[in-house]
Amino acid sequence: MKNCKRFKILSVVGARPNFIKIAPFCSAIKSHKNIDHCLVHTGQHYDAQMSDSFFKDLEIPTPDFNLNVGSASHAVQTAKIMIEFEKVLKKAQPNVVVVVGDVNSTLACSLVASKMGFPVAHIEAGLRSFDRTMPEEINRILTDSISDILFTSCTDANRNLLKEGLPKNRIFFVGNIMIDSLRANQAKANKQRVLELLGLKKGGFCLVTLHRPSNVDNLNILIEIFSALEVIQRHLKVIFPVHPRTQININKLIKTGKIKKSDNLLLIKPLSYLSFFNILQRAKFVITDSGGIQEETTVLGIPCLTVRTNTERPITEEIGTNILVGSDKKALIKESLKVLTGKGKKGTIPKYWDGNTAKRIIKILIRLHTQNILFRYPKSQS
Ligand code: UD1
Repeated sequence: MKNCKRFKILSVVGARPNFIKIAPFCSAIKSHKNIDHCLVHTGQHYDAQMSDSFFKDLEIPTPDFNLNVGSASHAVQTAKIMIEFEKVLKKAQPNVVVVVGDVNSTLACSLVASKMGFPVAHIEAGLRSFDRTMPEEINRILTDSISDILFTSCTDANRNLLKEGLPKNRIFFVGNIMIDSLRANQAKANKQRVLELLGLKKGGFCLVTLHRPSNVDNLNILIEIFSALEVIQRHLKVIFPVHPRTQININKLIKTGKIKKSDNLLLIKPLSYLSFFNILQRAKFVITDSGGIQEETTVLGIPCLTVRTNTERPITEEIGTNILVGSDKKALIKESLKVLTGKGKKGTIPKYWDGNTAKRIIKILIRLHTQNILFRYPKSQS
């Protein structure tokens, strides 16, 4: 942008869904010569499958700082990120800190930035499940309450923020940045050979992902879900890329014979972004407890059965392909059979889930910066 004064943006990623949201942001910044971008990876997710493969597939630049915090309890993980991020902010001195999503890294970094007087912009603000037993819900509410700029993906998020007393002039409905990644990577995803490698046919399998503590940390619930999958795999192949959190308990249940392996239920390692996208759009339907996948299936028109009783993304249920089935075995089987008999839910795509969200966000940030209205408090970092 011409005549824009120099602008330093620092953005933060930590866990798998963050990478998918920051990639389009990094790529949209590239065309702005007056913007210096500093990327911080907290290291909340750290291994090749959960982190490195996403940087590679999504062509995210190597982070300027890696805090290498790794796994720990919520308190320790959040605290470690805060300690390390304070040092980074002192060095980097950005004009704005951009955080995405609802993971522990999002909250930890927005808290540090806010207390040091740096303006905070939150991408994917305002989503609410109204279920405070979810760690992510706590992260959402707290991050939004201390953010200066709130970028929302749907209009119900605007309503949630206004109800919580956040000022209207700080809320910007910009659309869904995850969908930017989906649109930008369609051609590359199509070229992946995953289906062949796994011996699958388009529309001939159900794709499963589960990682919410409420589903996978409770062995009884996990057994209930697996007993539904056991019935579903009699009708079509079930492919389940297993999150590391989930793998720990699956191993326990297999060892004690409480769940059984079967040729039609394929438990595989987590997939890279492009490989996952490739099979996601070719699945007959999806069973998941992920937030992002509820959105992606709505855009791809794939029926999605969400193993939760609530969602912070109600628009995917209202107008998309999503159905909340809870973790009840009978409901899961019933809805799966409906899809198999051609009665899967159809839907439409929400406004601004169009691949241009990152561009809209950058445009707004530049405007606020050039008008000198990004700052909430004078900086004080002692
Ligand atoms: C986190 C996010 C969640 C997000 C999810 C996506 C929070 C509170 N939760 O949950 O919102 O949907 O990421 O994946 O921030 N692990 C590995 N390798 C890794 C990362 C994690 O093996 O690269 C294992 C660790 O042993 C850890 C477990 O996975 O115990 C869970 O990781 P953690 O970061 O605590 O939360 P997630 O369940 O992944």
